[in-house]
Amino acid sequence: MKAYELTEYGPPSSHGLGEVARPEVVAGEVLIRVEAIGLNYPDALMVQGKYQKRPNPPFVPGRDCAGTVVAVGDGVDSVAPGDAVVAQVFSGAFAEFVAAPLERVFKRPDGVSSVEGAGAITVFNTAYVAVVIRANVRAGERVVVTGAAGGVGAAAVQLAKARGAEVVGIVSTDAKAERVRALGVDHVVIVSDATEDGLKNLFKTEVRGLWPDGRGVNVVVDTVGGHMFTAGLRGLGFAGRMIVVGFASGDIPAAKTNYLLYNNLSVMGAPLDIHFAESLSEIREGTDWWLSLMASGRCKANVEKTVPFDELMDGLQALLDRTAIGKTVVTLDTSAT
Ligand SMILES: NC(=O)c1ccc[n+]([C@@H]2O[C@H](COP(=O)([O-])OP(=O)(O)OC[C@H]3O[C@@H](n4cnc5c(N)ncnc54)[C@H](OP(=O)(O)O)[C@@H]3O)[C@@H](O)[C@H]2O)c1
Repeated sequence: MKAYELTEYGPPSSHGLGEVARPEVVAGEVLIRVEAIGLNYPDALMVQGKYQKRPNPPFVPGRDCAGTVVAVGDGVDSVAPGDAVVAQVFSGAFAEFVAAPLERVFKRPDGVSSVEGAGAITVFNTAYVAVVIRANVRAGERVVVTGAAGGVGAAAVQLAKARGAEVVGIVSTDAKAERVRALGVDHVVIVSDATEDGLKNLFKTEVRGLWPDGRGVNVVVDTVGGHMFTAGLRGLGFAGRMIVVGFASGDIPAAKTNYLLYNNLSVMGAPLDIHFAESLSEIREGTDWWLSLMASGRCKANVEKTVPFDELMDGLQALLDRTAIGKTVVTLDTSAT
């Protein structure tokens, strides 16, 4: 089968499409014929060896895919050949076939295409961890999402809206603002000065200024890190919750604990992967929820662009270059596989 097998870490342009053996399905696994692959920022980090986990090459990277089940291993009875599914694996998705552990495979409802499912799974599951499991956003709360046009950001905006929150999206350009408005956000704030002082001022005046009571927001879901995180703490009101999702800025910030004490704040991490190991039932419940929202048209996968399999690495480069708006999904020609 065709796959991107990494022989050594390097920039996206250093990796090419080649031939590898089709994986054998073993007990507890599901063999999926891949129709669509969703690209994520962590994939771009992974191929460079900059992700927090660094498997030893050679291996096939890639985490999000959707397609059709072609075989199941012993002990698998909840899906069967022919079922439409979406999966989030640790690696192996940049291939025509992937053998996925059953717990990471989800039935795709009618109304959710393979492109939408592949474009959504990591970002919506991450947003679910952030918005529901960690922040426990409630109806009427004020929620700020940073990097709101990004993959996780756009999903967090929609899930917070689905929980009944009033949502503010922070973005860097007018084009990204348009994108986020189309997702139903209540307010958009565009960053004009990304310095530490510029961002602090943005939270102090533009975010807090959205409400005349000046009480600040209940939750910040931060995908950017760096100065955005530090400034975001200034936007939180009494007992506010800062949810750390990622560091798209490349800068891992430190929290000044006197500020947490002063305003009774909490800072919480929202890691997706560990929830598969430690709290699988919560993740499966969340996936079923957002897939049902998507099937009924109440949220969108935010897929902006589809590219063919041989342009996958260009898609990852666009994430690193910050030129991608919305999700990029790779589509595979399954007529020959
Ligand atoms: N917690 C988890 O389990 C988990 C899961 C998936 C991803 N993540 C992490 O979450 C973060 C966001 O992931 P994503 O998939 O949403 O990424 P993405 O689609 O690339 O979006 C990231 C957003 O961050 C903003 N940004 C600000 N400074 C940036 C910079 N220097 N370079 C690139 N983007 C920058 C961009 O928006 P503006 O241009 O509008 O500022 C961009 O839209 C990443 O750090 C990723 O590793 C964490």
